[in-house]
Formats: sequence, structure tokens, C-alpha cells
Amino acid sequence: MSIPKAELHLHIEGTLEPELAFALAERNGVDLPYASTEELRQAYSFSDLQSFLDLYYALMAVLRTEQDFADLADAYLARAAAQGVRHAEVFFDPQAHTARGVPLGTVVEGLARALDRAPERHGVSTRLIMCFLRDESAESALETFEAARPHLHRISAVGLDSAEVGHPPSKFRAVYEAAAAAGLRRVAHAGEEGPPAYVREALDVLGVERIDHGIRSMEDPDLVARLVRDQVPLTVCPLSNVRLRCVDTLADHPLPAMLDAGLMVTLNSDDPAYFGGYAGDTFDAVAGALPLGEDDLRRLARNSFLAAFLDDDEELRAR
Ligand code: ADE
Ligand code: ZN
Repeated sequence: MSIPKAELHLHIEGTLEPELAFALAERNGVDLPYASTEELRQAYSFSDLQSFLDLYYALMAVLRTEQDFADLADAYLARAAAQGVRHAEVFFDPQAHTARGVPLGTVVEGLARALDRAPERHGVSTRLIMCFLRDESAESALETFEAARPHLHRISAVGLDSAEVGHPPSKFRAVYEAAAAAGLRRVAHAGEEGPPAYVREALDVLGVERIDHGIRSMEDPDLVARLVRDQVPLTVCPLSNVRLRCVDTLADHPLPAMLDAGLMVTLNSDDPAYFGGYAGDTFDAVAGALPLGEDDLRRLARNSFLAAFLDDDEELRAR
């Protein structure tokens, strides 16, 4: 569906399509343990978040140069624009690259090369969100933040992703305080596989303005009441939730119940190369599988602009 929308939950590394992965592997002399793009696609069958993350991190081996990151982001922005995305807030995982010997500056400057050109080339405005890997240490997150200081003019917000259970938001209090002191906005994945208590911690301890996923909040009526009262945006990703088996089928997804409850929900694609759809595909899929009307879809699209890190003028232009 090409209704104008903002994408607020999108991991740029999760837009690495098999064809680009093979092209970059060849360009960089990296051996992939798959004979073809078809064989790689067949590996996209996940039992949970971790089984996906294992492949997601492994395939990043092909991303080495600034141009690789620029090509990745440009390919995403072209696809997103074709599906009605006018504004994209893009996550990246610096530690997944620095751990492989790719400098942080290569990642940020490569992505920025594509993002800077996106308004003119694709009609898409952008923000960059630097995520910390929650299954790495709090010290590693702080070191990453310090290493990013020279690039903070490129970065709008910090986020928290990777394996959720056993890694509560409170582990990252110090780095979120540092980010807030540096004037950055804050978001965090919470309530994807983890419990509603992690959503509360993300709000209370990390001071986040948006919750990424948040679907397990529905298990806790007091938390839902608070999220409704404060209109905290939840960046929900139904195709991801089905592929990672957080939800059995799309028809079982809590999205309609979340809207009925009055939650400030937005619809997003998470890792579209792995989960079977970009932003417009996601709107089409939920429209086909769930009892949502045209007004619900418009509300989801409107929410995406309201929840974006845009100032009022930019918001009006993006819509
Ligand atoms: N990194 C990329 N996609 C993710 C997801 N859905 N949850 C947590 N970390 C991620
Ligand atoms: Zn995510």
C-alpha cells in the first residue's frame, strides 16, 4: 500500500537482500557458506529471535567499506520510497561491525552518504538511530557511545536491540544517561520476547520516548493504561512477530486489540529482507489478515508521522 507513511522501526542490516549480499561478498572476497541466493533464502526459517540473530550477524560479514554501507542504505531507501515511505528512522548496530574490525566511522559515514542524498534522490527524509546490543556488556555500550562522539551530529537517537530475555533495560542506565546528556533522543526494544516489566524499565530507567515492539505489554492491563494515558508510541512489526514466532499467525496478532485499547501504535517492517516485506507490504498483509478498516490503516499511517523525531514543519512536509 502506497499511503504516505514513516518507517520508525527498521534495522538497516536487516534490509540486506540475498542478491546484494552475494554482490558484496564477491566485491570484498568474502566466502558465503551458501551456493546461491535461493539456498540462502531457504535458511530464512526461524524458531525464535536468537535463531534469526545468528544468521543476521553472520551475513553482515559482507559489509566492509563505506561504499557497502552506502549501497545497502540506498537500496533500502529506493524500495521504501516505492512503497510510500516519506520518512525513515534507521537503526544500525555499530558493535556488530566494530567487533569484525570495521571502524565505526566507516559505518556511520557510509550510511550518511546515502541518507544525505535521500531527500533529493528518493523523496525520503531520514534520521539515524544507533543501537546498543543488549547481549553485550554495559561497558561495551559505553565504549561504543564514546567512540561515536565525533559522529553524533549524524545521529538523532540511541536504541537497544538484540537478544532481549535476560538483558533488562536497566543494564544500560549509564549509557542512556550519557546519551540524554548529549542531547540524543531515546528508544528501546522491549516486550518483543521479554516481559512487560522490561517495557516499564525502558520507560522508567532509560527514559525512552518510544517502545520498539511492546506487544507483550498487552499482558499487563496497568501498563496498557499507562501507555494509553501517555500515548507512548509502540513501533509494532507484525511480519517480524510471526516469523520469529512471537505470535502464531498474522490473524492472531494483537494489533487490532492494541488499536481498540487506544494505544499509539505504528506499523513497521523491522528486518524486511528476512521477514517477507517492506513497509507497504506490511500494510497490505495486516489489511488482508486482520479485521482493520481503512480508518485504522490511516490512523496507523498518521501515528507514524506523529511519533517520528521530526519537527512540526518537517512533519507537514513529509506527510
Ligand atoms: N535486531 C534486528 N532485529 C531485531 C529484533 N526484531 N529484535 C531485536 N533485535 C533485533
Ligand atoms: Zn527491531
